[in-house]
Amino acid sequence: MTSLAGDGAPKAESVRADAPGRVNLIGEHTDYNGGFVLPIALPQRTRVELLPRRDRRVRVSSAQYGAAGGTVTYELGSERRDNTWADYIRGVTHVLADVAVIAGFDAHIDSDVPAGAGLASSAALEVALLRALRAAFDLKLDDIAVATLARRAENEFVGAPVGIMDQMAASLASTDTALFLDTRSLEWAYVPLPASAAVIVIDSGLSHRNAGGGYGQRRAECADAAARLGVSELRDVAIEDLERACATLPSPLGRRVRHVVTENQRVLDTVAALTRGDVRETGRLFVESHASMRDDFEVSLRQIDEMVTIAMAVEGIHGARLTGGGFGGSIVALADTALAAVAARAIVSKCRESLALAARAIVPPTSP
Ligand code: GLA
Repeated sequence: MTSLAGDGAPKAESVRADAPGRVNLIGEHTDYNGGFVLPIALPQRTRVELLPRRDRRVRVSSAQYGAAGGTVTYELGSERRDNTWADYIRGVTHVLADVAVIAGFDAHIDSDVPAGAGLASSAALEVALLRALRAAFDLKLDDIAVATLARRAENEFVGAPVGIMDQMAASLASTDTALFLDTRSLEWAYVPLPASAAVIVIDSGLSHRNAGGGYGQRRAECADAAARLGVSELRDVAIEDLERACATLPSPLGRRVRHVVTENQRVLDTVAALTRGDVRETGRLFVESHASMRDDFEVSLRQIDEMVTIAMAVEGIHGARLTGGGFGGSIVALADTALAAVAARAIVSKCRESLALAARAIVPPTSP
């Protein structure tokens, strides 16, 4: 049954694979600055059922993406971007061609990871497809290679200048322990949550996109600031040098640097707090992170700030913040385990009533 990796011959009949969405607990906009992140997998997953073909044709249908469950069809090697969900499929086969030979395939995709909610639905799709291709064609790709290819698909083909967090989370994270990742070395460790704490994720209903202008602009500002400070990545600015470094930079670069450097420190502090079971301190760090994203990195929206305020007033909530790339998407909150379900319902109904948002609970899932 074993054969040369990626010789193009199908190694299996039909295969199934899946990958989860993620919510980032803390460490936002640090990944493309060589910093630290702390995502955890969502219970929601993207599933791929794939049947290898003998020719080079690719045919993928999806229950959720594309109009009326649209099907995408193309020949391997002729991938062209069309700014639809199919770009994630084409992006994967396009970058995979650099490292492996595969044949065509028929696949069906089914997902309950919400799209546009800042919960990494695209990484779940890319990683689930790569896992299915790995199994179908016996490709010798480890989980980090899968994540790296998925990120290349997004950067080089889809045109979203994202970091590596989401793809590493889709490839390595689990739902019960957070993934503490050093995005520079790709070293990682699992950090369990204390039993007394539960994660809540509320989608604002305000759609977020990484390929939109704001994300790329923040990325360019960080690169500009690093060049002016003479470091290869903002990770290299020590927290002790922060005020001096910021003072040399024109607005808004100083604020951007302050967010990244303090956020990296908050990830380290959160890991330490979780490890000693300090839920209150973790919550405080969430709140500080939100303020930094709002004031220094300027990736929040007024309604998202109000959602965080609403969440903080609900019984059992220790902290809340915008999660993901920003400009819409979801908030993540840390709650007392025993109160989490009730608290999530209370946040959703207050956001609907007082902010007129189409908010909904993603974790723990509740009926609409
Ligand atoms: C998006 C990107 C990630 C990361 C976050 C912000 O989710 O895909 O790489 O930059 O935004 O932390």
